[in-house]
Amino acid sequence: MTGNITLTMIKPLAVKQGFAGPILARINDAGFRIIAMKYMRLSEAQAKAFYDVHRERPFYQDLVKSMTSGPIVAAILEKENAVEAYRALIGPTDPAKAPEGSIRRQFGVSIEANAVHGSDSDENAIIESNFFFSQLERFID
Ligand code: CMP
Repeated sequence: MTGNITLTMIKPLAVKQGFAGPILARINDAGFRIIAMKYMRLSEAQAKAFYDVHRERPFYQDLVKSMTSGPIVAAILEKENAVEAYRALIGPTDPAKAPEGSIRRQFGVSIEANAVHGSDSDENAIIESNFFFSQLERFID
């Protein structure tokens, strides 16, 4: 269902700091339904592929390094207007600019270690969900 899903990753530092549970609770409390989830460590090739759109950016290598530094939690979240609703919940990329009460403000430490990723469009939500999950791994009723 276009428009109703978004893909999130809880990033390695946030997982390491013990924030996976608290972040999932925030997601749950905000009314998102988790329709797929996995706990895994990205390989360098996988992190590079996921962030391929940023390959020319100066932060690309550091981003790949930090995203492969430990396990992540990846999940598909469902809600009406999921992409927009989730971006509102997490706040902007830079935790320092994120509003009080947003997930990135609460759990992020830097623009790179900003606690969570969220898809930036419906089109990317589908591409990113397909990157992590087969249809068999999704619970859709
Ligand atoms: P994310 O939502 O995972 O999507 C791309 C990531 O690149 C972003 O979060 C940040 O962690 C990272 N990023 C974006 N802009 C910068 C930047 N200027 N410097 C370092 N990292 C960045």
